[in-house]
Amino acid sequence: MSKKNICRLAVLVSGNGSNLQTIIDHIEAGKLKAEITCVISNKADAYALERASRHGIEGIVHANSDFADRRSYDARTVDILKERKVDLVVLAGFMRILTDVMIGAFPNRIMNIHPALLPSFKGLHAQQQALDYGVRYSGCTIHFVDSGTDTGPIIMQSVVPVEQNDTEDTLSAKIQKAEHKTYVAAIKLFIEGKITIDNRRVLIAD
Ligand code: GAR
Repeated sequence: MSKKNICRLAVLVSGNGSNLQTIIDHIEAGKLKAEITCVISNKADAYALERASRHGIEGIVHANSDFADRRSYDARTVDILKERKVDLVVLAGFMRILTDVMIGAFPNRIMNIHPALLPSFKGLHAQQQALDYGVRYSGCTIHFVDSGTDTGPIIMQSVVPVEQNDTEDTLSAKIQKAEHKTYVAAIKLFIEGKITIDNRRVLIAD
């Protein structure tokens, strides 16, 4: 954390960036004591980059194809994050699996958001997986990233009811509403130092 107790964030994205936007809005409204040091995208055309630029935040493109393998991709990312003295890495729709290079550099300091109630429906198309399975409730999960896919310690979850006529689009939209509130709440807990981890259980001070 910086001298002024401002948490230094980096946000990694691949697409629209609505979660990024919510984080920016909360910082600008003084509701999160944080600063976004950079936004890194693996897609040059991610709308999230435009959102960053509109708010004077540096956007960096790391195309998948610019790197020989996943570990060298992550090594470059770690360099950038260390240069910027990042306290917390926020994955906000970043559609890449991290290697031990990133996870080892930021243990329990990388958060991810997933559009389902983990451990159900890991991986891609979580909303469609939930519909296909026929669950009555789905939602979103904020978790720390470990070496598995969507397996890390769970920080917060929000539940969203699934209606009979929901499609992937309508369910995704409902889950996104919940995501925006839940992600900033989890980041706030981290900033306030209220999170500890006991084995894989996340304990939250009240
Ligand atoms: C979010 O719904 C997030 O849960 C999902 O990508 C979307 C990004 O939206 N992430 C994953 O599926 C990761 N496995 P956004 O770009 O509008 O924030």
